[in-house]
Amino acid sequence: MILYFSSTGNGKYAAERIAAGTGDRVVSLGDAYKSGDFDLSLDPGESLGLILPTYFGVLPSVVADFLEKAELRLTDSNYVYTVDTYGFHYGNVAAELAKILRRKTGREQDADFLLQSVDNWVPNLDLTDETYVQSALDKTDEALPGIIEGIVQKKRVRVKGEWPAPMLLMMKKAYKSASRTKNFTVNDSCVGCGRCAAQCPTRAITMTEGRPRWTKANCTLCLGCLHVCPKNAIAYTKATVGHGQYYNPKTTR
Ligand SMILES: Cc1cc2nc3c(=O)[nH]c(=O)nc-3n(C[C@H](O)[C@H](O)[C@H](O)COP(=O)(O)O)c2cc1C
Ligand code: SF4
Ligand code: SF4
Repeated sequence: MILYFSSTGNGKYAAERIAAGTGDRVVSLGDAYKSGDFDLSLDPGESLGLILPTYFGVLPSVVADFLEKAELRLTDSNYVYTVDTYGFHYGNVAAELAKILRRKTGREQDADFLLQSVDNWVPNLDLTDETYVQSALDKTDEALPGIIEGIVQKKRVRVKGEWPAPMLLMMKKAYKSASRTKNFTVNDSCVGCGRCAAQCPTRAITMTEGRPRWTKANCTLCLGCLHVCPKNAIAYTKATVGHGQYYNPKTTR
């Protein structure tokens, strides 16, 4: 099983490429979370791939919550690997995931692979910069064949957490604070299509009188709502205005 969480397609693209190389089934964590399906049963000898983005150097909160709730049993016959998609620095995702797996299943993953991708953190990145986007897409395509080969060969390569505990704590606090939905606004170009609400993995958006309202105080901050809007009507603070939208052009939503 290849379980991926992806709001702008980098992880989905990686999952599809890996599936083409391994023949494994692909499962969307976002869809499973929304439908309340936490069954991660594996057959003996089946591999489990976890394809995840880095958020503030740690796991997206929705991923951590999903894994806590998941029905997951691992034996030594299951090869378990992570592929961490990131923009500039992967932080401690693999190490954070290892802690959850050890607590839940008594063992950690066998391998971690790092996949540099387009950084979808649009408050900092101007994604109208086609040169940046193309060079990041090229980096992904250069790295993927080696990663797929490593997975097929069941290589055992682990990535250690890079950050000391105080730095990790600071990043976790920053992520929590940034996840407040009061940071989102919608402008008058909204046509009420509801795609933002349909996209949200945490059901934080409700359509009211033809407009999105963020009805939960916090969300997982995937920015999927902002990137999916056909009118680019959603902003996350003023920092995203003029920075464009992104979805990995090598896959479909
Ligand atoms: C809330 C948030 C925080 C992020 N933090 C980081 C980060 O700390 N380091 C990094 O390299 N990329 C960071 N990114 C970029 C994503 O990890 C990267 O673009 C990832 O490939 C997105 O995957 P997806 O297209 O499958 O959703 C962040 C993105 C978001 C939305
Ligand atoms: S996706 Fe955009 S246009 Fe559609 S309802 Fe949401 S904000 Fe409005
Ligand atoms: S409100 Fe937007 S950013 Fe937050 S979880 Fe939902 S889709 Fe992602």
